[in-house]
Amino acid sequence: MTTLLRIDASARFERSLTRMLGDLFIERWQELEPGVALITRDVGRHPPAIITAAWIAAAFTPMPQRSAEDTAVLADSERLIHELEQADVLVIATPMYNYGMPAALKAWLDQVIRLDRTFSFDLARGDRPLAPMLDGKQLVLLTASGEFGFGAGEPNEGADHLLPHLRSVAKYLGADNLCHVGIEYQEFGDQRFEDSRAHAIEDVKALAARMAG
Ligand SMILES: Cc1cc2nc3c(=O)[nH]c(=O)nc-3n(C[C@H](O)[C@H](O)[C@H](O)COP(=O)(O)O)c2cc1C
Repeated sequence: MTTLLRIDASARFERSLTRMLGDLFIERWQELEPGVALITRDVGRHPPAIITAAWIAAAFTPMPQRSAEDTAVLADSERLIHELEQADVLVIATPMYNYGMPAALKAWLDQVIRLDRTFSFDLARGDRPLAPMLDGKQLVLLTASGEFGFGAGEPNEGADHLLPHLRSVAKYLGADNLCHVGIEYQEFGDQRFEDSRAHAIEDVKALAARMAG
């Protein structure tokens, strides 16, 4: 049985394009694998806490030496990491905000990417001392942006800090491979937007069918 972890990062609950793509992906998967387990973590609705000095001190204190306060400070992080550990497929549905990810999604990343839980650190590894501790997961990114054309030679080349950021951290989430479906042109609301949305809807259903099949 597959376990899906769905993360929603949009601050909108009505007319959210990324939530719509997330719904389609999950619905298609459930059609093909009715017994699939689903964990949902709506960080757009309930943003995780931003990490603090107390959180960092606790996270970098080896487990046997942690105080009761340290353990309490890390409780939410533990809960979120436990959800991630269970997932075979991680579905992140996220808008582009100010050319990057919503703060709520970054807060989730900061809570789950943690020393000796999701990565280890050893200077004996030389200039790349970090190593992921989770593996074998698939990461699906479902995105939406108001603007368009973030690829090479396109009008907004170099301005996309959403996908490159998520690609950089994917290995610490245990993801060995990543698939992306995105809608562009939302702010224009014209035919290009309609086409982009229609393509993404087809792509996301096909992706779920391919992955679940
Ligand atoms: C606070 C905020 C910041 C945004 N910043 C950008 C941006 O930098 N670039 C862009 O292309 N679209 C930007 N947008 C547009 C959103 O990416 C677009 O509305 C998207 O559809 C939102 O996802 P949702 O429909 O799931 O809520 C922004 C929207 C909001 C609300």
